[in-house]
Amino acid sequence: QEAINVGLCGLGTVGSGVVKILENHKRDIVHQVGCPIEVKKILVNDVNKKRDEAVDSALLTSNVEELVEDPEIDVIVEVMGGIDGTYKVLEKALQNKKHIVTANKDMMAVYGAPLLQLANENQCDVRYEASVAGGIPIIRSLTDGLASDRINKIMGIVNGTTNYILTKMMDEGRTFEDVLEEAQRLGYAEADPSSDIDGIDAARKVSLLSTLAFSMPVDLSDVDVRGIRGMSYDDLAYAEQLGYTIKLLGIAARGEDKIEMSVQPTLVPHSHPLASIKDEYNAVYVYGDAVGETMFYGPGAGQLPTATAVVSDLMDVVKNIRLGVTGRSSVNPQYQKNLKELDE
Ligand code: NAP
Ligand code: HSE
Repeated sequence: QEAINVGLCGLGTVGSGVVKILENHKRDIVHQVGCPIEVKKILVNDVNKKRDEAVDSALLTSNVEELVEDPEIDVIVEVMGGIDGTYKVLEKALQNKKHIVTANKDMMAVYGAPLLQLANENQCDVRYEASVAGGIPIIRSLTDGLASDRINKIMGIVNGTTNYILTKMMDEGRTFEDVLEEAQRLGYAEADPSSDIDGIDAARKVSLLSTLAFSMPVDLSDVDVRGIRGMSYDDLAYAEQLGYTIKLLGIAARGEDKIEMSVQPTLVPHSHPLASIKDEYNAVYVYGDAVGETMFYGPGAGQLPTATAVVSDLMDVVKNIRLGVTGRSSVNPQYQKNLKELDE
């Protein structure tokens, strides 16, 4: 069977994980999708940087045209981060009929609607499971598993770095700065970790989940955000004495005629399951009219969990290519409208 060719943008924490999974699980992947998946080019900032990965250096380039203009590349896997410039790259790729898999919540929270629109116009797939909650298949659960339900509320821990910091400060008595440095070393934190600490990363994820759960576009600026900057061991220890654990919770709830979204450090009673979510793990509760309460739990950041979501998305796209059914974007065309318009 002819291979499906991938242009991989980024060979950092997640990109290296993608290469590892494609290599280590090659046999199973070919068995499932029915053809080999080959990485044809890899975009990086610095082709001369010393890298641990066993990657053929001939694949590396810092010229994006070599990926988005290559007619033999079928899918662009974007794991490099960035917002405006990255959107431009993906826009060009879609115009050239390349499918997209991305882990980039920053870009999706800003440009998700136009990107999906462009994908529909070009009969291309866009998948972004890894952009929310790392290895937890929460986007798939909302768009597939729970699609028939009316979701009323989503609540959870959607940032691994801040959960890691809060856990290690409390359990090991370490300083904020010390644990943050470790989270960066372990590959959990964003390139600019202030987006983790100040709750922006979680707000982006809440806005993406809200768009899917409530079938309407939401604006990132509508999320009420407070992060964990300045939180001390004393804050955490005092809360513990009172029977609570402090967690950075993202909440999105359907009101009478509006959606309310927030990211806040929250006192969670010890008896609540969210209080026991440790380290970089995430957990998301989804409350549906029909299904009731469901909880999704797993590693929310890190190389292999995140890369698993990326490669699973890639496999989904490859299956669609082989079946000739690409272009069914993971959200329906109503994404662009709000609920009021739909009722009219
Ligand atoms: P990273 O370790 O910093 O790696 C970024 C990679 O992209 C590097 O290989 C870098 O090249 C390359 N790159 C960055 N900007 C570029 C540009 N303008 N042109 C060409 N190459 C560029 O980042 P990461 O942690 O893998 O995260 C990547 C994406 O996944 C981000 O959108 C992030 O939010 C998302 N994500 C990360 C995690 C996680 O746990 N880390 C989880 C979920 C989602 P060089 O190697 O030459 O520097
Ligand atoms: N920096 C993010 C986090 C990566 O810590 O959750 C996963 O999206």
